[in-house]
Amino acid sequence: PKVAVDGEIIAQHELAKDVWRMEVEAREIAREAEPGQFVQLQIPRGAFTLRRPVGIAEVSLQKGTVAFIYRAVGKGTKALAQLTAGTVINVLGPLGHGFSCKAKRPLLVGGGMGLSPLLFYAEHAQGKADVLMGGRCERELFWQEIYKSHVQEVFCTTDDGSCGTKGFTTTLLPELLQKGDYDLVIACGPEIMMKGIARIAHEYNIPCQVSLEKRMGCGLGACLSCSIDTTSGERKKVCKDGPVFWAEEVFD
Ligand code: FES
Repeated sequence: PKVAVDGEIIAQHELAKDVWRMEVEAREIAREAEPGQFVQLQIPRGAFTLRRPVGIAEVSLQKGTVAFIYRAVGKGTKALAQLTAGTVINVLGPLGHGFSCKAKRPLLVGGGMGLSPLLFYAEHAQGKADVLMGGRCERELFWQEIYKSHVQEVFCTTDDGSCGTKGFTTTLLPELLQKGDYDLVIACGPEIMMKGIARIAHEYNIPCQVSLEKRMGCGLGACLSCSIDTTSGERKKVCKDGPVFWAEEVFD
């Protein structure tokens, strides 16, 4: 069940250039949230009437907090990054359907900010997951440090070869699936990456889930702005039926 709570920001800092981590007190949401779900944040400043969808990156049941890692790119997210600890923000959630958490040996594959919702999964899996992360260069893979204590192994690929294997996540994935004992692949990142990951997982007969990103209006299933065509021909809403889908539901 989703709730709207006014939560105090207890921490906000920049992790890497333009990438911010904000932690908010929201005990009811922390208790209910599952990896892959998101919230809608109401930015309490300026003329922002719409709420902003943000994936949940971390949850602390002990502190009763949820944390978000987001890139400050547009007006809304830049305004979000300016809020300091002590500010109260309205959080609506948890929303949508998350990842399947039944896997024994999940492999998380993420590119760019897709590594944010996967972090919650890694924490939840309590050291039984591995992560494969891709970026343009080593600087973009600041995530390694963050993931290290939550997963068994961290594999990296970079376009320029400055860290890990040179190439894309899809370059290294076949080798990992060949050698590993993974029973689920979950992917979050650019759509072209997720399509490639899903195709390879399918070749190796490993179930694959993807988290889609779509522009959202209401985030509650009411406005249709996030509708997509599924492979069965049925229209689905990313905000309500997703954002997580089985790959074969959404990719040919
Ligand atoms: Fe309105 Fe999904 S964002 S229906």
